[in-house]
Amino acid sequence: MYLTREEEEIIQGEQGETLQQLMEILVGVGTVFGATKMIPVRSVQVSGASYKTIGKYGLEWLESLHARAVVPAVLNPIGMDRVRYASMSLTDEFITNQQAVIDAYARLGIQLECTCTPYYFSAPAYGEHIAWSESSAVCYSNSVCAARTNREGGPSALASALLGKTPYYGLHLIENRVPNMTICVHDAPKEPDSSWYGSLGYLVGKMVGAQIPYFAGIRPTRDQLKALGAAMAASGAVSLFHVHQITPESEIFHWDPHMFEQIPITNDEIQQVYRDSDQNHVDAIAIGCPHCSSDELLRIARDLEGKTVKKPLYIFASAYVLSRCPGEVAIITKAGGRVYADTCMVVSPEMEQYECIMVNSGKAHAYVPTMCYARSRIATLDECLAEACM
Ligand code: F3S
Repeated sequence: MYLTREEEEIIQGEQGETLQQLMEILVGVGTVFGATKMIPVRSVQVSGASYKTIGKYGLEWLESLHARAVVPAVLNPIGMDRVRYASMSLTDEFITNQQAVIDAYARLGIQLECTCTPYYFSAPAYGEHIAWSESSAVCYSNSVCAARTNREGGPSALASALLGKTPYYGLHLIENRVPNMTICVHDAPKEPDSSWYGSLGYLVGKMVGAQIPYFAGIRPTRDQLKALGAAMAASGAVSLFHVHQITPESEIFHWDPHMFEQIPITNDEIQQVYRDSDQNHVDAIAIGCPHCSSDELLRIARDLEGKTVKKPLYIFASAYVLSRCPGEVAIITKAGGRVYADTCMVVSPEMEQYECIMVNSGKAHAYVPTMCYARSRIATLDECLAEACM
């Protein structure tokens, strides 16, 4: 792997131990994956921000680092709402440790925007090289924005934030962004909701693993593309997908769906995902995986206006999006919904108190059993809100 003179100096420790250690991480990753050189990145999203996921040793590592971010860098969701944490079911120990993680990232110059939807306040441009790490954000930035990122781990993303570079391999190269197969969706409903795309992604992710699917027969909106990609990234390891005549690279390259191996999938198979999910008593409802957009908050608020929530209803979004929707937040909270910023149903311990959680997200449906230790039922947004008010 070619290194510039400055990169050589960093790896020899001439700019301090922290940068040496971080350059070793990037060179190690680049060597394993056959990178030819380092390239500059325009932005970074760092995962490993919740104390629930990184624990004591992750925090100790962060506190041992001494450097500052040299490119715009944000965080993945943390384990609590920084303002409303007192209303969450968290231990004092967790709150103290989570605050220490936040402080450690702030000291490293990482912006305290903690979200899996950073593209709502700063969308990467077409062809831009970035180093993002949360799997749904990676999938969206690659597929919907046509930016270029591999699915970084927390340490390699942090290294990119502090060094401004990433190894040049994988999805940074245009030749690695070509689809492997066409998923031909038959009998798609006329106006499916986002949970239908989440269920489709839940199925397809299991089938394709880390390959690049190309979809024909669907016309998702941006929020639905978000749901589709997040689910495939969770049930499989998809980091890039294309949708015929919808996503930017499919528009530019004019791929013919028949060019690739054809894999049919029917609406009945997608409906089976709903039927197979847990049908027992629901204890709580969680919406916002990935974090809600302003359009999604508007839909929720319209539905809840004048109603009263009877079961715990959680809505998760970034602090940025919530700050732009004060009216919607007021309606949802007046109805009894719990709106939390910059945290989520999976990375916060909050949801571990429930036995069965209803979600409208294919990604949440994949993660709730393993990360929240609860059963999961996937349903449409309308069904989730109706359940909350029953
Ligand atoms: Fe985002 Fe948390 Fe879901 S990070 S994609 S809301 S699991």
